[in-house]
Amino acid sequence: MVARWSVAAALVWAVVLVGRCSAADPFAYYNFDVSYKTASPLGVEQQVIAINKQFPGPLINVTTNWNVVINVLNSLDEPLLITWDGIQHRKNCWQDGVLGTNCPIPAGWNWTYQFQVKDQIGSFFYFPSLGLQRAAGGYGGITVNNRVVIAVPFGEPDGDITLFIGDWYNKNHTALRKALDDGKDLGMPDGVLMNGKGPYRYNTTLVPAGIDYETINVEPGKTYRFRVHNVGISTSLNLRIQNHNLLLVETEGTYTMQQNYTNLDIHVGQSYSFLVTMDQNASSDYYIVASARFVNESLWTRVTGVAILHYSNSKGKASGPLPDGPNDFYDKTWSMNQAQSIRTNVSSGAARPNPQGSFRYGSINVTQVYVLRNKPPVVIDGKRRTTLNGISYSPPATPLRLADEYDKKGIYTLDFPTRPLDGPPRIAASVINGTYKGFMEIIFQNNDTIVQTYHMDGYAFFVVGMAYGEWTEDSRSQYNKWDGVSRCTTQVFPGAWTAVLVSLDNVGFWNVRAENLDTWYLGQEVYIKVVNPESSDKTESPIPDNALYCGVLQNLQKPQKPHGSSETSSSSILDVGSKLLTLILLLASIAIFA
Ligand SMILES: *[C@@H]1O[C@H](CO)[C@@H](O)[C@H](O)[C@H]1NC(C)=O
Ligand SMILES: *[C@@H]1O[C@H](CO)[C@@H](O)[C@H](O)[C@H]1NC(C)=O
Ligand SMILES: *[C@@H]1O[C@H](CO)[C@@H](O)[C@H](O)[C@H]1NC(C)=O
Ligand SMILES: *[C@@H]1O[C@H](CO)[C@@H](O)[C@H](O)[C@H]1NC(C)=O
Ligand SMILES: *[C@@H]1O[C@H](CO)[C@@H](O)[C@H](O)[C@H]1NC(C)=O
Ligand SMILES: *[C@@H]1O[C@H](CO)[C@@H](O)[C@H](O)[C@H]1NC(C)=O
Ligand SMILES: *[C@@H]1O[C@H](CO)[C@@H](O)[C@H](O)[C@H]1NC(C)=O
Ligand SMILES: *[C@@H]1O[C@H](CO)[C@@H](O)[C@H](O)[C@H]1NC(C)=O
Ligand SMILES: *[C@@H]1O[C@H](CO)[C@@H](O)[C@H](O)[C@H]1NC(C)=O
Ligand SMILES: *[C@@H]1O[C@H](CO)[C@@H](O)[C@H](O)[C@H]1NC(C)=O
Ligand SMILES: *[C@@H]1O[C@H](CO)[C@@H](O)[C@H](O)[C@H]1NC(C)=O
Repeated sequence: MVARWSVAAALVWAVVLVGRCSAADPFAYYNFDVSYKTASPLGVEQQVIAINKQFPGPLINVTTNWNVVINVLNSLDEPLLITWDGIQHRKNCWQDGVLGTNCPIPAGWNWTYQFQVKDQIGSFFYFPSLGLQRAAGGYGGITVNNRVVIAVPFGEPDGDITLFIGDWYNKNHTALRKALDDGKDLGMPDGVLMNGKGPYRYNTTLVPAGIDYETINVEPGKTYRFRVHNVGISTSLNLRIQNHNLLLVETEGTYTMQQNYTNLDIHVGQSYSFLVTMDQNASSDYYIVASARFVNESLWTRVTGVAILHYSNSKGKASGPLPDGPNDFYDKTWSMNQAQSIRTNVSSGAARPNPQGSFRYGSINVTQVYVLRNKPPVVIDGKRRTTLNGISYSPPATPLRLADEYDKKGIYTLDFPTRPLDGPPRIAASVINGTYKGFMEIIFQNNDTIVQTYHMDGYAFFVVGMAYGEWTEDSRSQYNKWDGVSRCTTQVFPGAWTAVLVSLDNVGFWNVRAENLDTWYLGQEVYIKVVNPESSDKTESPIPDNALYCGVLQNLQKPQKPHGSSETSSSSILDVGSKLLTLILLLASIAIFA
């Protein structure tokens, strides 16, 4: 009797501990049914990728340190992985959703991601990471709010608006993929979408009738936080709102020095938050414009996104020409200067109350230097490919992290060159050997003629410098060692370099890639392997119970019963699910031991 009671008591205690843990760090649950949906954003019918029939997908709206559980059902006809751009997955690259860490979710299967948004705040987005699928949609926002006890360096806005901007083709992702496989260029996009919709008909010649456009409804006098993400394929966009200032406050998890911009260049994969005050007289609606950068305007007039800002007291429709953007086809200096004007507010806190400037990145000694040189596409073994340092990455059938877990050798090589190679370009699965707790300097040198953006998973890096010409050791004297912005995606102008510094404190395999989809698809990516030489459980999460197996480990995979899609819905139940489960377990254990 006594023994029985103590077992039950121990179980209750265990449940209390679990309960406490989830009370400190709540859970948010999502079901994502990823499927095709017919849409005609630019007036041409095509299959887009929707989540729970929504395009763009639902917002993941959570708070620092929350646990996020997302059950993804792949209702497409091809493999799927979703990556959570900018979420650092501390010690847990198993949830990163890229081919170096995860086997793809087969068509018809589901897979549940679970990760914690540990010590993060800010505006990010998720998207399907395989084979150009993002060109068909499948993206949505991730907002990580400050905990209530942590001060935000501006007053609470009256509303929060997520805005996706991105170039778009009327061809679907499989047709675009085929073009690239056939060695072709994607050519000029057919337009720019805003929240999955085509342009407002500001010009009857340029915009056909019957196109659905985005309207943002606002109240006069109020201030809104606009979280803007360039989710496009390869076009840098200039964002502006007619007659309104954009007060920049945050980028990819860093609170910036608050500054007004009349327009801002947003490159592929980048995210920004602006505060916009509705301080105009509403004599009409206002245009929200995203236009292509560094292109011949007379050829690209069609490729402009236009949405409508509608005050509740508006007296009429927007009309007349769009507000002008920068006109500097030949001169990218203005854009680079603008990029360098974006700086960290070192005195404000972020996920923690400590000032963002308390990590003195400028006084830490660099331990590893990599110069990654991007060249225009080349032909390797008869295929058109892109390279970094002469290497075009080809993802092995077995994810790198999984291969290590099962001690499978020969899947990849740990020999990525620290400097561009002189030899002929080659296709390989060559990985950067990162030193745990080291401080790495990466210089992206863009030898191509178009802007590229580079992203790093698992980390935020400090953008310390960018300039035209070739980077040399002397370039370090120009680095911003004090308030460079910490983010996960940086632009690199053509014929220029961008230098970043990153503290390698997160164990795992982390993807460094071109965010421009065609460049990425053709091989411009690499992984950085970071291992703790003193292996202990604390520095990395164990392989998840539901891990998928593929490649040389295919035989470990159990079959999955096909799913009906009816069971999934767009619900997000906070904490209730886990509490309920805990309660059921508790009742069950009491029943067993009574
Ligand atoms: C994409 O378009 C091609 C025709 O260009 C068509 O054959 C194919 O079925 C389409 N795929 C999807 C997923 O819509
Ligand atoms: C996101 O969550 C926060 C805090 O829970 C809430 O205040 C806010 O209204 C939500 N935002 C949206 C857009 O749903
Ligand atoms: C698939 O979904 C079902 C129910 O929605 C869930 O019980 C199961 O754990 C999921 N499977 C995986 C591998 O995530
Ligand atoms: C910087 O952050 C501080 C502290 O939150 C805030 O008071 C100040 O207004 C911010 N300054 C700028 C220029 O953003
Ligand atoms: C519409 O665009 C065409 C082509 O760029 C231009 O010639 C025309 O002037 C524009 N119409 C108006 C009303 O702005
Ligand atoms: C930004 O512009 C608004 C007007 O739109 C003005 O009220 C505000 O003071 C400006 N803020 C800064 C930091 O320049
Ligand atoms: C409203 O503002 C616009 C632009 O600033 C100005 O041209 C117009 O005269 C104003 N209208 C009224 C009724 O104040
Ligand atoms: C832009 O394209 C037009 C039409 O092809 C051409 O006439 C013009 O010279 C081009 N402008 C520049 C700056 O290259
Ligand atoms: C950095 O390196 C310099 C010169 O090698 C050395 O004097 C200094 O102590 C190092 N600083 C740190 C923080 O390790
Ligand atoms: C990778 O770097 C570690 C030090 O961080 C070193 O011990 C190891 O030998 C390196 N591996 C290779 C293959 O270079
Ligand atoms: C690319 O590199 C070559 C050789 O170093 C150089 O001549 C050329 O100017 C570079 N082009 C760009 C756009 O950086």
